[in-house]
Amino acid sequence: MTSKRKRKVLDLFSGGGGAGYGYYLAGCEVTGVDVADMPGYPFEFIQHDALTFPLDGYDLIHASPPCQAYSDAAAPYRTAGKEYPDLIEVMRARLVASGIPYVIENVVGAPLIDPVMLCGTMFGLKVYRHRLFEASFPIGQPAHPAHLWNAVKTRWDASPGHIRPSMRIYGNDDSRQAMGISWMTGAELKQAVPTAYTRYIAEEGRGALPGPRGHRLRGESAAASDSQTAGNVTIAENEKDCEPLDGDAVLGTLADFWACPQPSRFTGKVPDRIAGSEWDQPVPDGIENPYWEIVRQLPLDDMASPSPWRTRPEPNMYLFTDDPSGSGFRLFANRYALCVTYSWSVCSPGDIAWIKDLLGGMGVVEAGAGGGYWAWQLRQAGVDVAAYDPAVPGEHYFARREWSPILPGDASAVGKHPDRALFLCRSSYGEPRAAEALTCYQGDLLICAGEGEGGCTAGDGFFGLLGAGWEEAGVSPSHISYSGINCDLTVYRRKGAT
Ligand SMILES: C[S@@+](CC[C@H](N)C(=O)[O-])C[C@H]1O[C@@H](n2cnc3c(N)ncnc32)[C@H](O)[C@@H]1O
Repeated sequence: MTSKRKRKVLDLFSGGGGAGYGYYLAGCEVTGVDVADMPGYPFEFIQHDALTFPLDGYDLIHASPPCQAYSDAAAPYRTAGKEYPDLIEVMRARLVASGIPYVIENVVGAPLIDPVMLCGTMFGLKVYRHRLFEASFPIGQPAHPAHLWNAVKTRWDASPGHIRPSMRIYGNDDSRQAMGISWMTGAELKQAVPTAYTRYIAEEGRGALPGPRGHRLRGESAAASDSQTAGNVTIAENEKDCEPLDGDAVLGTLADFWACPQPSRFTGKVPDRIAGSEWDQPVPDGIENPYWEIVRQLPLDDMASPSPWRTRPEPNMYLFTDDPSGSGFRLFANRYALCVTYSWSVCSPGDIAWIKDLLGGMGVVEAGAGGGYWAWQLRQAGVDVAAYDPAVPGEHYFARREWSPILPGDASAVGKHPDRALFLCRSSYGEPRAAEALTCYQGDLLICAGEGEGGCTAGDGFFGLLGAGWEEAGVSPSHISYSGINCDLTVYRRKGAT
């Protein structure tokens, strides 16, 4: 009896073995190589430099060189002068020379040739974790489902009936569960590739291996790193890393794109935008709304199939393109930078008109007003706003500009204004501010921009109070949120109020 030989996969830069485990799940025999000792690596492991490790004797070589030279997360350190090794080119040269089919994995922004992009949503995972895979054999690009929830850091409520947000991987047990990886240390986990990704790659490669297809060498995709970012934008991993945006520069970048638009690599079509569409909302004469002017020009997310939850256009910060002279990735703005410059929730002219109509002449009190962008829009529309924030705009990373005067004050300040409607805009999850404001507020009208219960804004305390004392009375039909960021503008009335 003959047993079928398993394909032998060499897992270079193996880390704790996330990528390696995916190949194992696809029926391969895996050997890991890493310059650091990896005592928990689940298969044969050799501690060695991947740049000199002998490659002969394998059916497929996978390489995950360190990503810090390209990743958003390391951008601030690079800007501060820290240097990281750029191992992709040297590794690719070795792999091509070996003649063995290969896969190189890295982060979005890395200089990979004709990569496919994999996202956790494609495999039903509760992580987004976009990763690029360049291969010497064809790999199909799966459709990219919409990101339904903002990724959360620590909370992953898997109880039946609850909304299940997507995780950001921080090395805790929730993260292990979300990644499908049980054996790694937290540090290894943060570096790891979800096993589903390489299982998919191995299965895609099954028909094509062995026999590398023609390689296009690095030099042929020239100018990749320069054109990866429009206007020299880097994608920051969080708001603390962001500087305020130059809105005119972003609009200029977008105008250049629309003057000569490129099609999306996923649909082959030039994306839509809000400007000029049925969703466009004119800014009234004499009013300034620079945030909206940017948002209406962003390309709309075109990567997900039409689905029941996509009832409104979803602007995106980036577009994957097939431009042979570029990197295949156009970035127009950084969402965090937009948020800290303007507001964490997009403020459309229709939202302001909707709120004004609800108020019927009443004023607004806002807790956690940040830089006062919504207060500014309401004030321009003639609404009297008392806006409070404990932090001085411009000095706190959450709000880098002051758009309109903010009074110093915490959430309890709203208690002084029972005659105004209470407005809360994307209150931070896990902070008591929203619950405190609702406890102190004595009036009857509440307007909130944010996510629903179980989402990434406000918190359980707030939603407990809301459920007990308030009833929903409407949702702004004009509210727009970014692709993957759940946000509604909702009005509630106090139960029993006349
Ligand atoms: C992004 S992590 C790999 C993650 C891994 N593929 C997974 O899915 O779990 C990169 C790894 O490269 C290793 N490394 C860095 N330079 C190396 C070198 N010259 N040779 C071998 N490994 C190296 C690091 O120790 C780190 O574990």
